[in-house]
Amino acid sequence: MIVCLCHGVSDRQINKLLVSGEASTVAAVQAQTRCGTDCGTCIAQLREIVDAAELRRWKYQPPVPRVLRPA
Ligand code: FES
Repeated sequence: MIVCLCHGVSDRQINKLLVSGEASTVAAVQAQTRCGTDCGTCIAQLREIVDAAELRRWKYQPPVPRVLRPA
């Protein structure tokens, strides 16, 4: 699905950047794709995609082993 009509940026392109680690913030995605840098209509959707990726990253972090936890 196209997120940014001004620059032809799709949700797949954005998620690819987020999953690969090439970008982790709205600003980083904008720097690489120009998504949201023209009319700004797509900014809210871009933020939702970045926030969802951040939540997935937190949700799937491996637990810290007991021996490494502070006493
Ligand atoms: S739709 Fe993304 S900047 Fe216009």
